[in-house]
Amino acid sequence: MSFWCIFFAIIGIVVILIIIFGFPRKKKSPRKPNIEGLDNPEVAKAFEKMTNFLPFRLLRKKVISKLKDFNPKGTLVDIGCGSGNLIIQIAESFPDLNLIGIDIASEILEFAKKRALDRSLGKRIEFKIGNVEKLPFSNESIDFIISTFSLHHWVNPLKGFNEIHRVLKRDGTLLIFDFRRDSRRFFYGFLTFITKVVAPKALKEVHEPLGSIQSSYAYNEIFQLISQTSFQIPKVKTFLAWMFISIKK
Ligand SMILES: C[S@@+](CC[C@H](N)C(=O)[O-])C[C@H]1O[C@@H](n2cnc3c(N)ncnc32)[C@H](O)[C@@H]1O
Repeated sequence: MSFWCIFFAIIGIVVILIIIFGFPRKKKSPRKPNIEGLDNPEVAKAFEKMTNFLPFRLLRKKVISKLKDFNPKGTLVDIGCGSGNLIIQIAESFPDLNLIGIDIASEILEFAKKRALDRSLGKRIEFKIGNVEKLPFSNESIDFIISTFSLHHWVNPLKGFNEIHRVLKRDGTLLIFDFRRDSRRFFYGFLTFITKVVAPKALKEVHEPLGSIQSSYAYNEIFQLISQTSFQIPKVKTFLAWMFISIKK
């Protein structure tokens, strides 16, 4: 290969990396809460399909690897567990945990229950309908709470955080993974493309997945939000378009 081919290949790679990693979103757009509509069977079906797309599978892998750093024990609850993809992978990776998946939408929980049964995990994972604002657990009874891509949908996040604080044991941990509105510009464009072109029709109609990033919190807003709850200061680790928020009770 000639010198110039190698030169232009390197320049090309650098330009692509700068486009992906380099530019934050220019304007500070206000948060726009979005109705996900998972209680609609068509939307639930389309959402279930989308969670199997490669980017979501890769992100779940990232969450499992982060969870391994915490080495959770006892009872773990997944709030907003959706169609159960994550909690099933948790069951496979952590065979000693007691697992409970909570979701506000009954339609999507049916997918979760079926998926668990198909993997012979029906007895290991309990699924319950529930709202993060009123969790079906007694005080200080849960060791670990995880929640992925759900925070931005909570109507009253302060109530949700305080409720999580109530049910966590004294040394319990909360780990949240979600989009962040102050993402790199490339990912905003990527999600716009997915919503307008690739997403199933039912998701396009509820403006997803772009609506999720537009209704998510920015890095600074997380600290403001949590400072108004019973929790202490969280650790927040950001990357391209998402963040991990972890807090010890
Ligand atoms: C985008 S889905 C994410 C599902 C799953 N955690 C995942 O990562 O694939 C968000 C989920 O949060 C649930 N949800 C929204 N508000 C909730 C609330 N207040 N309490 C419990 N679940 C909620 C929705 O029904 C939905 O299943």
